[in-house]
Amino acid sequence: MSKIDLVMTVPLPPLIIDGLERDFTIQKLWLADDWEALLDKIAPGVRAIAAAVPILAQDRVWPIDAAFMSRFPNLEIVANLGVGYDNIDANWAKDHNIAVTNTPDVLTEETADTAFGLMLNTVREFSAAERYLRAGKWLQQPYRLTASLKDRTLGILGLGRIGKAIACRAEGFGLKIVYHSRNKAQGVDYPYYPDVLSLARACDILMVVVPGGPETRNMIDVDVLKALGPDGILINIARGTIVDEPALIEALANRTIHAAGLDVFANEPHVPEALLALDNAVLLPHVGSASVVTRDAMSQLVVDNLVNWSKGAPLLTPV
Ligand code: GLV
Repeated sequence: MSKIDLVMTVPLPPLIIDGLERDFTIQKLWLADDWEALLDKIAPGVRAIAAAVPILAQDRVWPIDAAFMSRFPNLEIVANLGVGYDNIDANWAKDHNIAVTNTPDVLTEETADTAFGLMLNTVREFSAAERYLRAGKWLQQPYRLTASLKDRTLGILGLGRIGKAIACRAEGFGLKIVYHSRNKAQGVDYPYYPDVLSLARACDILMVVVPGGPETRNMIDVDVLKALGPDGILINIARGTIVDEPALIEALANRTIHAAGLDVFANEPHVPEALLALDNAVLLPHVGSASVVTRDAMSQLVVDNLVNWSKGAPLLTPV
């Protein structure tokens, strides 16, 4: 059987490249001196694209938008490394019968662990307390007293797979849970709020887990931050675009919210200086799923989706 032409837009992990090499001829666009010329030559034969959200591709950004996909008249599938697929115009793909796959499930528990660790760290200031110790300041006096998880309400914005895994952890810690999602979630009896503003009013810690993209851009705006209030804490493990970053910086600087824990930023890997300067923000370099075992499982899922497709077998995780 002849190999299938596949375009890889960004540098994907060796596990993916090795896993695809038997069945696919991989065109590595990021290595091409003149990728326009390369595409002109190969486009008609290309049936598959392997892509990734920037954090999983050494921060290289390559939008799989309508203009890009329409260069390939015989394109049938885009396989994405990442549970989020805001790098792909999935609606356009659907309208043109192009399948899109992502990497859900295998990263759910890891990402929920990160979210929970970030929340604990932000509330109890563990990073700052460690910096304090290392700077020798404990010798002068103990670290200051912090906020607490005790008797707090966690508001989860987006009760999908990862949101539910976070809720499961939060139950173990005795937190009260409330949520808002596009639709009411099945099989849970946490109080539902019809919009993000009423959710922010009802909770102490707002955990952002909704997907990125145009529908959620700047969903956490000045009004939501105001509704969260001076004791409120914002945790974002989803996408930086969901939060109005300048508004958040202002709210943190003026202490109109208490603190924020952020694993994601609007323009990764660039983090605004003003945010770096704040002592009430805990900042992580987008490490939600970043363990060896989880990243390998995500890579394997990209391979398995593409190999299944090449054999006419069902896709494992179509979006
Ligand atoms: C990471 O951000 C992902 O979407 O998997």
